This record gives sequence, C-alpha cells and structure tokens, in this order.
Amino acid sequence: MALMVWDNGFSVNVKEIDAQHQKLIALINDLHDAMKTGKAKDVLGKVLSDLTDYTVYHFGVEEKLFQTHGYPEAVQHKREHDALTKQVLDIKEKFKEGKAGVTVETMAFLKDWLTNHIKKTDKKYTPFLNGKGVV
Ligand code: FEO
Repeated sequence: MALMVWDNGFSVNVKEIDAQHQKLIALINDLHDAMKTGKAKDVLGKVLSDLTDYTVYHFGVEEKLFQTHGYPEAVQHKREHDALTKQVLDIKEKFKEGKAGVTVETMAFLKDWLTNHIKKTDKKYTPFLNGKGVV
C-alpha cells in the first residue's frame, strides 16, 4: 500500500503545482517502497537523490511565482522551504556516508512534513495566486 495518496484535500487549485505535489508524493512512495522491499543501497540512494532534487526544483517554482506576483507571505514560506531542504540534504548526506539509513521514522517525517506544508502553508497562497489569474 502506498504511504501517501493524493486526493483533492491536497489541491492548491493551481494545476502546475498540484502536478508537482503529486510527483513529490509519488517519489516519497517510491522511497518508501524501496525501503520496505530492502532495495540495495545504490537504488535507495538514487531515489533519495531524485526526491531531494525534485523538492528543490518544486520549491524554486513556488518561490518564483511568489516573486513574480508579490506574494506577501513569501519570506515566511521560503523559511519553511529552506528548513526542509536542509533536512533532506542532511538525510541524503548521512545516508551516502553510511551514517544513517532510510527508516520508518524518516518516512513518517517526510510524509507529515509534506502533508502539513501543503495543507497549511501552500494552501494559504491559493486565494492570492488565483486572484492573480494563476490557476
Ligand atoms: Fe509546495 Fe511550499 O511547497
């Protein structure tokens, strides 16, 4: 069973961003599957890298939208992005160096973080961006 399932409760009503969130959820599920089925370290490392890269890319897309449209809560929002980026890079580095594995706790952290961030922080920009014609 997938760790995370996208439903309309995750929608921020911006097509491009919903598609990116779906991809992030798919990558978290890939990592979860790789962990559960005891995939080799290089396979796990590759999925972890893909997740890290896509997370950074996605945050950049949102931040560009904020900048383009003058979103008033951009600074606070970016602070959350920066904190997670630091944490996932740390997970990736520790994994690479063999200092930590991808665990059930790692997966729970990623799932909870992404769910809360999308449903609480990302959703705040929906009225603002929709008002600017971004849908
Ligand atoms: Fe969708 Fe603010 O990350």
